[in-house]
Amino acid sequence: MFYTKVCEILNIKYPIIQGGMAWAANSELAQGVSNAGGLGIIAAGNAPKEIIREEIIKIRKKTDKPFGVNIMLMSPFAEDIIDLVCEEEVPVVTTGAGNPGKYMEKLKGKGIKVIPVVPTVALAKRMERQGADSIIVEGTEAGGHIGELTTMAIVPQIVEAVKIPVIAAGGIANGRGFLAALSLGAEGIQMGTRFVCSTECIAHENYKEKIINSKDRDAIVTGRSTGYPVRVLKNKFAREYLELEKQGISFKKLEELGAGRLRLAVIEGDMENGSIMAGQISGMIKDIKTCEEIINDIINEGEMCLKELNAIKRGV
Ligand SMILES: Cc1cc2nc3c(=O)[nH]c(=O)nc-3n(C[C@H](O)[C@H](O)[C@H](O)COP(=O)(O)O)c2cc1C
Repeated sequence: MFYTKVCEILNIKYPIIQGGMAWAANSELAQGVSNAGGLGIIAAGNAPKEIIREEIIKIRKKTDKPFGVNIMLMSPFAEDIIDLVCEEEVPVVTTGAGNPGKYMEKLKGKGIKVIPVVPTVALAKRMERQGADSIIVEGTEAGGHIGELTTMAIVPQIVEAVKIPVIAAGGIANGRGFLAALSLGAEGIQMGTRFVCSTECIAHENYKEKIINSKDRDAIVTGRSTGYPVRVLKNKFAREYLELEKQGISFKKLEELGAGRLRLAVIEGDMENGSIMAGQISGMIKDIKTCEEIINDIINEGEMCLKELNAIKRGV
């Protein structure tokens, strides 16, 4: 059940991908997801090559299942990380914050599956033309850096526009969301916020608790004025940042203000001064579970929802 083209391409049991998450998604989280039948991803964030090489070595000791590396194309080390994934022949690469077109040939030449994150139809089509194996379509509900369109609106538009399989991301954390994504035509899902609240994720306990205690309207967007909007949970830092944006302070000052804030929240657990990236679905996440439990729950709930839908169809 739920074996899709994404499973076939990536050689995984369930079409569930763990989002690359700077600071939060290292080899520990990625091995948990890969060993549970999904695709675990090590996030390179802004880290240098040797740090990520260590994570690749570590995950290979903990699983023989496929895994991936997420490359933030804005990182000063992006080119180094491209070299690294080629040297290490990492099975899958996902990319965020830009267009990986110029690296496509090199990655594909090494047999690496390339899956860019896209927020629009135009970029999805371009990625298909340039040889992407699949695309992650991320709606604005997501945690972290976001686009404008909702998952509900953009996923079916991109499904219609491309032939490669689509993976839906943004606002998915349970079996109902999983099945909804499949109904929109996606052949897999990517989740970030739900996997932060896993036993294996190294994010500070305060971070996980903050998500668990949040309500539906606690995820807000900072950085709209800079052109780089980020979805975070409300806290002192987010409020101060928004106030300064309103006052019109310069992009450079805002950039300086934001530097190091994600690390402060994820690693130090500073819930006042850190940037708590998390999605709109935070309000529904109420527990910390192992990656295996999270994935099994989604598959079981997805099957149950399908039965409910069939019952509606039959009118019982
Ligand atoms: C804490 C955090 C950090 C993130 N960092 C990255 C990143 O480094 N690269 C990236 O492509 N996406 C990043 N994302 C986005 C996720 O990979 C994923 O697409 C998103 O969380 C999906 O939406 P959801 O949070 O509603 O599940 C981040 C998300 C979170 C919550």
